[in-house]
Amino acid sequence: MPRGKAKAAMDVTEFLHEDHMKVSELFFQFSKAEDESEKEDLVKQILTELHVHAKVEEEVVYPTVENEAEEGEELVGEAEVEHKMIKYLMAELSQMSGEDEELDAKVTVLCELVKHHVREEEKEMFKKLRESGADLEDLAEQAKERKEELMAEPLPSMNATLEIGEEEEEEGEEVEQIKALDTKRAPARKRSNARKRSA
Ligand SMILES: [Fe+2]
Ligand SMILES: [Fe+2]
Repeated sequence: MPRGKAKAAMDVTEFLHEDHMKVSELFFQFSKAEDESEKEDLVKQILTELHVHAKVEEEVVYPTVENEAEEGEELVGEAEVEHKMIKYLMAELSQMSGEDEELDAKVTVLCELVKHHVREEEKEMFKKLRESGADLEDLAEQAKERKEELMAEPLPSMNATLEIGEEEEEEGEEVEQIKALDTKRAPARKRSNARKRSA
């Protein structure tokens, strides 16, 4: 029996690539935006997309890369460090308003970091993942499901997302280190969006 025109199932690298394209488009829109409220809205969308995307990768995709892809541990190690840098800037941006004079510069740096990270994922990690023989269609299903759940949740306090992975014993330490770093820089001006970090 012919298969007809049933659409081939998407593999997880294609699924993540779509997210990458979406964020890239949002950064492009930000570069063209002039209006403060439009910028604020775009930053919110960028933070949401990046938060959900990173979480899906860390929970659903990176463990498979680590366990099944060649050089998986190194690739994931590097990717997680990049996620941390990205989340640090995201946390700063989450406390800024559209009129903040550092907003454009921070979004530009975030965009550069994300571009670099995406390039490495697509050129190296995804290639090795495809070569690994892992079931990438099943992984795409899991990623899709997790993304839908996360998209339905409110964006959490960005401080919380600075804690990466399952570093159980040092849960607080990481945040403290980043906070210490933060105090050496200019204090965030607008804190209206910041939620209190749980004690
Ligand atoms: Fe990533
Ligand atoms: Fe990614």
